[in-house]
Amino acid sequence: MNIALLGFGTVGSHFYKMAQEHSELNISAVLSRRPRPELACTVTADFDEIVRDGSIDTVVEVIGGVEPAYSYITAAMRAGKHVVTANKQLMCAHYEDLLSLAKECGVRLRCTAAAGGGIPWLTSLARVEKMDEIDAVEGILNGTTNFMLSAMTANGADYGAVLREAQALGYAEADPTADVEGLDARRKLVLSANLAFGVSVQEADIPCVGISHITAADIDKAKEWGYTFKLIARAERAQRAGAVAAFVCPTLFPVSAPEAHTDGTGNLVSLYARRIGKQSFSGAGAGGFPTASNVLADCFAVMAGCESYYTDKAAPCAVDNSTAASRWLFRRNGQYEFAECSAEEAFARCDADLQSDPCALLARVADTDQKEE
Ligand code: HSE
Repeated sequence: MNIALLGFGTVGSHFYKMAQEHSELNISAVLSRRPRPELACTVTADFDEIVRDGSIDTVVEVIGGVEPAYSYITAAMRAGKHVVTANKQLMCAHYEDLLSLAKECGVRLRCTAAAGGGIPWLTSLARVEKMDEIDAVEGILNGTTNFMLSAMTANGADYGAVLREAQALGYAEADPTADVEGLDARRKLVLSANLAFGVSVQEADIPCVGISHITAADIDKAKEWGYTFKLIARAERAQRAGAVAAFVCPTLFPVSAPEAHTDGTGNLVSLYARRIGKQSFSGAGAGGFPTASNVLADCFAVMAGCESYYTDKAAPCAVDNSTAASRWLFRRNGQYEFAECSAEEAFARCDADLQSDPCALLARVADTDQKEE
């Protein structure tokens, strides 16, 4: 396989190192704005040079963001090159058109590293979806916020200090808003729900609350109640046909739950399928080598001749949270209140609370008795 690697940041440089150990993977070009004399391949800042190079059969995109990544990978597919990407933002923004373009061009498109870091999560969903009906997917899908919440829970660490540490370690996105406000977890949820249910959900339709309003006092209060905060992304089949329920929000887990013991950049994500029951996957959700390992695995899958994408099914699908009932915690003006209601009502109440208290908090209480039918 002759690869052009687009981007040489944390994931790109680790992928480069790992690929050197496999003689069947030849990185023949790296797209980089900076000269990289240490690399033993062509280094160019001109993507057209890569598209025109007929010897390159696969483009690995780890630049992130929608543009120029979208222009690059669509041009690569049109030129008959397979694409492996770790870019959840791009995959969410252009899900349907990228899937159809891969099919139309007869090339393969893989994005396993886009959700779950080094965990083979998307590949497991694709595998289960072929033999069973998946009812729900749920889990910790953002390493940065899990790292931050774990440190804040373990030693009362300060929010700003742990965020800076997560950035220095290369876990957080360049703009950490995507991590702390739950947008990164939401993108990973979109890809997960799309594969699990054979649909195409719009990111903007999914209500999302991140961790930026969680204070040390909230964490202490949760401990008093016997709970630990985790940022959870969840999608389930809605009662209304053709819709899914989906949301991202802080969630309170009893300290005995496996999620409460998923620390650092760990991710823990589960699927609930009708015949198979519950399957959970855990491991490093961020970081150079874990994420690069899924990029590498995708290259092997492309070489092995996998289908154009994990699934052909991408029916446009609405988000309907009106029947997703739970127990919720609301904090407004320093007052805590638990209430049972649908996710639709809970997020609407949180929006209203934020009008009078810009620091208001919403958290879901985990349903740890969830059926494993
Ligand atoms: N910023 C992301 C995270 C990187 O913390 O999970 C991996 O997708």
